Amino acid sequence: MTSRATIFLSRTVPPAGRTLLEPEFTIREWTGDGFITREALLQGVVGANALIVHPPDRVDKSVLDAAGSQLKVVSTMSVGLEHIDIPECRRRGIAVGYTPGVLTETTAELTLALLLATSRRIKEGFKAVEKGMVGWQNGHWLCGKQINGCTVGIVGLGRIGLAVAKRLQPFGVAKFLYSGHSEKPGGAEIGATFVSFDELLRNSDFVVACCSMNEENKGLFNKDAFSKMKSDAIFVNSSRGVLVNQEDLYDALKSGQIMAAGLDVTSPEPLPVDHQLKTLDNCVIFPHLGSATTDTRNIMAITAAKNAIAGFKGQTLPSPIPL
Ligand code: DGY
Repeated sequence: MTSRATIFLSRTVPPAGRTLLEPEFTIREWTGDGFITREALLQGVVGANALIVHPPDRVDKSVLDAAGSQLKVVSTMSVGLEHIDIPECRRRGIAVGYTPGVLTETTAELTLALLLATSRRIKEGFKAVEKGMVGWQNGHWLCGKQINGCTVGIVGLGRIGLAVAKRLQPFGVAKFLYSGHSEKPGGAEIGATFVSFDELLRNSDFVVACCSMNEENKGLFNKDAFSKMKSDAIFVNSSRGVLVNQEDLYDALKSGQIMAAGLDVTSPEPLPVDHQLKTLDNCVIFPHLGSATTDTRNIMAITAAKNAIAGFKGQTLPSPIPL
């Protein structure tokens, strides 16, 4: 009798994906709270034929060595790929799959939640309700900023950036600007103007980071960038925490250099309980909820499971990483 192949899951996979995996693999998984520890990851992968992982589980040489040469596929339940050593996987002939596209709409919705929460001062509003305060303490109490008539600058007009802009159109945005490596076909769709990063910073009422992360853009939003923004600008990041120099962001928010910031991502995640950004009323932080709807997580799980099964069988992955 041949023994069944093994898959290691670095986090429990939603039922829609798990159901596909059960007939194919013996499932081994991390069921602890929070992110898997490095030690548990290195132990868990030993002898596995397939892995399903998530950011920030780092799949590097050590993990691939610990897994062993029978490992055929690394499937990540994410669109982000920064946690995987792709050249090393390629060198070893290990297939890599991811889940692009399926989380675009959900992440765009959450980005709007950040824009609204910051511009309409929702965090302060919640606190006021908890303290039993009534509204209209005076005519300008908790007055925020409206999106209608504003200029929105999107840094990285990829799938998610475009979906954010399309959702903002009905709010009556006066102008969309975008920056990036090159002009994007989506720019014309929403009547957006392609500008330099500096021009975007200087002219936007809302600066929204939607770019994927790479070595070049780590710390892109730093003291210099915040100093170029309008004094009532709102900065929103639903991409990756490392794009931001968080000390510089704290200073910009604390000193009133910019009006507010909404972050779905931080570095690290979670932020320490006593992190200084959490002390600010004009900083709204979510715990990386971009793709967190039941439907989206189920579709991500199905995509990740199908990638793992195909990769193990030596077939073309339904959703392989770009060449
Ligand atoms: C992704 O898919 O990369 C999301 O940010 C969730 O981690």
